[in-house]
Amino acid sequence: MNGEDGSQQSHTPVLLRAVIAGLNIQPDGCYMDGTFGRGGHSSEILKRLSSGGRLIAIDRDPAAVAAVNPALERDPRFEIVKDEIANLRQVGVERNLLGKLAGLLLDLGVSSPQLDDPERGFSFRGDGLLDMRMDPTTGVSAAAWLATVGEKELMKVLFRFGEERSAGRIAKAIVAARAKKPVLRTRDLADIVAAAVPARRPGKHPATKTFQAIRIYLNDELRQLERALDASVDLLAPGGRLCVISFHSLEDRRVKRFMRNAAREPEAYRGLPSIPEDQRPPFRLVGKAQTASVDEVRANPRARSARLRIAERV
Ligand SMILES: C[S@@+](CC[C@H](N)C(=O)[O-])C[C@H]1O[C@@H](n2cnc3c(N)ncnc32)[C@H](O)[C@@H]1O
Repeated sequence: MNGEDGSQQSHTPVLLRAVIAGLNIQPDGCYMDGTFGRGGHSSEILKRLSSGGRLIAIDRDPAAVAAVNPALERDPRFEIVKDEIANLRQVGVERNLLGKLAGLLLDLGVSSPQLDDPERGFSFRGDGLLDMRMDPTTGVSAAAWLATVGEKELMKVLFRFGEERSAGRIAKAIVAARAKKPVLRTRDLADIVAAAVPARRPGKHPATKTFQAIRIYLNDELRQLERALDASVDLLAPGGRLCVISFHSLEDRRVKRFMRNAAREPEAYRGLPSIPEDQRPPFRLVGKAQTASVDEVRANPRARSARLRIAERV
């Protein structure tokens, strides 16, 4: 989103119309956006809220929090919280919001400003310090981690979080390279991977999955997601909507499994006319997974792999 004063770096919100429709916005409702980014989705939610509505936006990246548009900051319906989605339940508890949310949005992964700033270290395009932390104030940078990680552990991370078939070869190449010179920059890592494995698909850099794997691992992204999904059961009011946009199969698989299980009647009561209240599934599925249209992908290539799943608290 670009603020009117031009103060915000650009991030085009993905599947915006589908998200707004999926949230089924109640003007007086209380909403949470767990992944504020540059506030593209948040701004559209706020536009649809009355003076009685409320939006709590969360981001773990201090740069995202610092980039909040002054007009938003002044809006009494809006609050920005620097935190992780693994702590969503606590954020709700502190505001007495358990069972009260009308909607929760998670638009996972990294934002364009994070990807486009070489110094954040997320991208193999350009050259910058190999950091990759969404919150650079905690944890270890990718460069520090790569300096000491064992080859076997590195291979497992590349395989598990990047589904990288050449994980063994890449891990070996990184360990051999760092013995000669520390791997400190994104260009160093991209070049090591490119020299170790051939490009498989034209237009796809051979280090794509390596960067994805290290980022997911260092930011603990899958556990963060699982904790946020669990919290949604306690946070949402009946009729409240959970909307999750994921960008790769590791995330989407978890979202799909969570929603499917949460919407499933317990086996013992399946097909029976009534289910005791405490045995009823907490969610119902709302439609199937949605992807971006050809036009949206053309205008915003980040939307290419986006998948939106929606469930409603019952
Ligand atoms: C894809 S962007 C969201 C873009 C946003 N919907 C918009 O329209 O501007 C993801 C954002 O969520 C944040 N994020 C990712 N994982 C997070 C987590 N586990 N906890 C808190 N924030 C997270 C990132 O720092 C990034 O700013």
